[in-house]
Amino acid sequence: MRNAPPETTPFFARDRDMHPPAYTPWYKTTVLRSPQRALISLEGTKSEITGPVFGHNIIDEFDNDLIVNYSKPGEGPIGQRILVHGRVLDERGIGVAGALVEFWQANAGGRYRHKKETYLAPLDPNFGGVGRTITDENGFYWFKTIKPGPYPWPNGVNDWRPAHIHFSIFGHGFAQRLITQMYFEGDPLIWICPIVKTIPDEEAIKRLIAPLDMNATIPHDMRAYKFDIVLRGRRSTLFENRMEGN
Ligand SMILES: [Fe+2]
Repeated sequence: MRNAPPETTPFFARDRDMHPPAYTPWYKTTVLRSPQRALISLEGTKSEITGPVFGHNIIDEFDNDLIVNYSKPGEGPIGQRILVHGRVLDERGIGVAGALVEFWQANAGGRYRHKKETYLAPLDPNFGGVGRTITDENGFYWFKTIKPGPYPWPNGVNDWRPAHIHFSIFGHGFAQRLITQMYFEGDPLIWICPIVKTIPDEEAIKRLIAPLDMNATIPHDMRAYKFDIVLRGRRSTLFENRMEGN
């Protein structure tokens, strides 16, 4: 039995001031990407809201272990072994069960396994950089991976992305998808990243930074980082793809 309050708690207004403005010229691609005219509101269609849905049988045993899910037998990726864990929470701090959480990242050298990747750091033959899992009945998720490296990107003359992991969280329909990025506590690149600097709310930035969690560390094996994802409300995680509504 779920010991949760009824679904009739007060409405938590979304704080829209924490979102980056669409036009932030120091993040160069926003110049062409930002709208030049007033926005038009479109109603969601029934099929967008209700389906199609994903089944939970799509998850394979090692989908949440990026250390082994692309490795050749007896081999493994280069880099720092880490565990990332946390909860998907609603605005009341209640865990969201059954959410599909997907994650993708660069390898330890800061290189993605992607055909459009151009960074000179080498691919790791034992690292794919993609995984997924489903939250348990209390909203918990976890996965094992290699700590991603920072990488340079073509923006200004010398801009670097801090080490980060991309996240996607699905609700019950494919149109209910939220995207965000997790950063690592103590990384000095966070505060000079042109993309991070588009976020006007310092507290919203801090909520994207996963602290080192020594309690979840596996001794003699891997360190742990804790990243809770809050879907709505005052403590909401900043989602890249949802500037409007709540
Ligand atoms: Fe990235």
